[in-house]
Amino acid sequence: MFRKPVSRRDMLRLAGASGVGLLLGGSGAFGIMAATGATKQPASDKPGSPDNVTTGIPDANRYDFYGQHQSGITTPSQNFMCFASFDLTVSDAAGLKSLLQAWTRASASLMAGELLDGQNENLNLPPADTGEAAGLTPSRITITFGAGPSLFDHRFGLAGKKPAGFGDLPPFNGDNLMPEWCGGDLGVQICADDMQVAFHGMRNLIRIARGSAVLRWSQEGFQRSTESDPNKATPRNLMGFKDGTANPSVQDAAMMNEVVWVQPEDGAGWMTGGSYMAVRRIRMRIEVWDRSSLSDQENTFGRYRVSGAPLGSQHEFDRGDMEAKDASGKPVIPMNSHMRVARGDGKMQILRRPYSYSSGMDNTTGQLDAGLFFISYQRSLEKQFIPMQQRLAQIDALNEYIQHIGSATFACFPGVRQGGYIGDTLL
Ligand code: HEM
Repeated sequence: MFRKPVSRRDMLRLAGASGVGLLLGGSGAFGIMAATGATKQPASDKPGSPDNVTTGIPDANRYDFYGQHQSGITTPSQNFMCFASFDLTVSDAAGLKSLLQAWTRASASLMAGELLDGQNENLNLPPADTGEAAGLTPSRITITFGAGPSLFDHRFGLAGKKPAGFGDLPPFNGDNLMPEWCGGDLGVQICADDMQVAFHGMRNLIRIARGSAVLRWSQEGFQRSTESDPNKATPRNLMGFKDGTANPSVQDAAMMNEVVWVQPEDGAGWMTGGSYMAVRRIRMRIEVWDRSSLSDQENTFGRYRVSGAPLGSQHEFDRGDMEAKDASGKPVIPMNSHMRVARGDGKMQILRRPYSYSSGMDNTTGQLDAGLFFISYQRSLEKQFIPMQQRLAQIDALNEYIQHIGSATFACFPGVRQGGYIGDTLL
């Protein structure tokens, strides 16, 4: 039987699937596709091939991969998230660069809703794309990359470029961190309105990384889907409360420069336009919470459960009267309520972008392993996240019902310019 000769392109496809691709250099493993407009991928004329034509995808369904900032930070939250932390197995900067270039090509295609490297026509090779997203729209997929503190150790010659003040988070009161949920050389957050699309993205990045990086830990997350909420209201967390109300507005560019995007004067020039990500895997003691009274629950957050309004106020987006006292002279918004303690004097804000998680049953306790996969973005971990979490760890009433079991930080690179690659300002 006639066998098609294996071309260089085929070799690269094979390499992408088996992990030797990076030995062959960074070019060609995945074609760079335009990330804008309704790009078409030619459909295969082979009988039985999946339909890969992505015609007519509304732009509202697709974000550009290239731009000043990475997507997935100020992007309105999608319904689902796949997060993965990687440890590098390459030992030099050239290996790291090849991986980031291969991930760049793949990410540009994934965000355009295209299968990686088009159709696989060669029966002798594994498919270039795992295929489960064939025929699906991009579903607003975003892919966000960051460098963990360990990337700046001796291995890649980057120690001198580590931003001042960037590192693992310090221990906080009440932490119960498990090493299997902490750290990583590189962090990747993929969000999409369809779980299969998000999973497909992560699976293919993992596949491309074979031979260069291994998974350290991963977590999937969800929130209510926008389809199931006709009012597009603030999503609720697994404690039943609206979560995200007091976030700074992502529409306000000046505010985002103030709170989220690293500015030239912040040092580490390669991070300008990027953002620091704090990740905490926070388990909820759901069974205990479910037995607490409504009034205890509302006092814990300082907000009404149904409306989301601050206690003593009418509407969800009211700021709340921190001076108000009840008939007995006690503050209406309790001093140890989560909202009050998190806000502090209100001068330092962060952009929260969390997802709920549920990882089945904890076999040791028979209880649900579920909670909040907390992600926030900020210009400075030292000035914003850390003091806030120090306050919360001391007195937050919520601590009775939660436990922080995972922790990581990532310096999320600025956006990629056309022709560039993820992390090129660092490397
Ligand atoms: C399982 C853990 C957590 C849950 C369930 C939770 C839930 C909530 C809820 C329901 C609100 C009120 C509505 C809103 O403004 O979004 C809130 C506010 C807030 N949370 Fe959390 N949160 C958690 C952890 C954290 C952590 C770790 C931080 C940061 C260190 C944080 C920072 C904030 C901030 C800054 C606010 C707004 C405060 C204000 O009104 O100005 N939260 N959170």
